Amino acid sequence: MRRRRIILDCDPGRDDALAIAMVLASAAEIELVGITAVAGNVPLALTYRNARFICDLCGFPGVAVHAGADKPLAREPVTGTRAHGESGLEGMEVDMRPGAVEPGGATAFMNETLRIAADDEITLVAIGPLTNVAALVAESPALLPKIRQIVLMGGASRAGGNVTPTAEFNVYADPHAAARVLDCGRPMTIISLDATHQVLTSPARAERLARAGSEPARRLAALLRPAVHSRTARFGPDRLPIHDPCTIAWLLQPELFKTESVPVAVETEGTHTLGATVVDWWGVTGKPPNAHWVTEADGEGVLDLLIECIGRL
Ligand code: RIB
Ligand code: CA
Repeated sequence: MRRRRIILDCDPGRDDALAIAMVLASAAEIELVGITAVAGNVPLALTYRNARFICDLCGFPGVAVHAGADKPLAREPVTGTRAHGESGLEGMEVDMRPGAVEPGGATAFMNETLRIAADDEITLVAIGPLTNVAALVAESPALLPKIRQIVLMGGASRAGGNVTPTAEFNVYADPHAAARVLDCGRPMTIISLDATHQVLTSPARAERLARAGSEPARRLAALLRPAVHSRTARFGPDRLPIHDPCTIAWLLQPELFKTESVPVAVETEGTHTLGATVVDWWGVTGKPPNAHWVTEADGEGVLDLLIECIGRL
């Protein structure tokens, strides 16, 4: 079977790091064309450093990592340091200092990759705020047919938000970018909190990864344990929803998930609802579906796959 060619746009970020490791461990199924970093969980200099650090840790120092947007399109920047720590990789020893980064290289890399690709050749996997992808959509509409599919972690409907009662972090951090991407017309699969809240780690899972055998697995196992401030009453003291790796699990084993085709819009103005992803479950708007919304995830199956992948590194 032909490998899927992907660009991974991310804001590492504890769960982003696990997603990167899963991709690197799945070279037989996925060709990682490159990684683009975006400001999100932590500022761009740190998301870029963290992406670079995880590739090196997993034994892939040659992976192309490009720095993208250092701030959202229109709103004031927000970060996710509460859940990810000041470094973005709380729980891990990060022995790589952040350097100066030139923002904007990500869209140049995306443009060039699409320019030389065939139609429907490149899958964009977006697991951070959508600022880089929105810039690509605005700058190069003629290249959009080269995008086979956009697979994104973001949004929330029935699960409720994780940064406000209605908004999930990636969409809340840049709602204008999310709205632009959702309207770009390319096939889109959205893995929101509705799905990722069904994928909850446990101390036993973290222990299993730590014992999987490889040095990367031992060090990455810390990311399956909640960061100090992310322990919430919602999931209990030692359970943690694993968000970003669900996108890679969907690419590798889509049978672990169920989806529904629905129209989805993003609130870009609301006082109480800014960043909400509004899903028209019953077709009352009369609008055509613009996304495959993942409604169910086999949490145990996703975690088994994550451990199997990262244990191979
Ligand atoms: O809401 C979860 C998402 O926000 C994940 O991508 C996490 O890394 C943060 O970016
Ligand atoms: Ca992320």
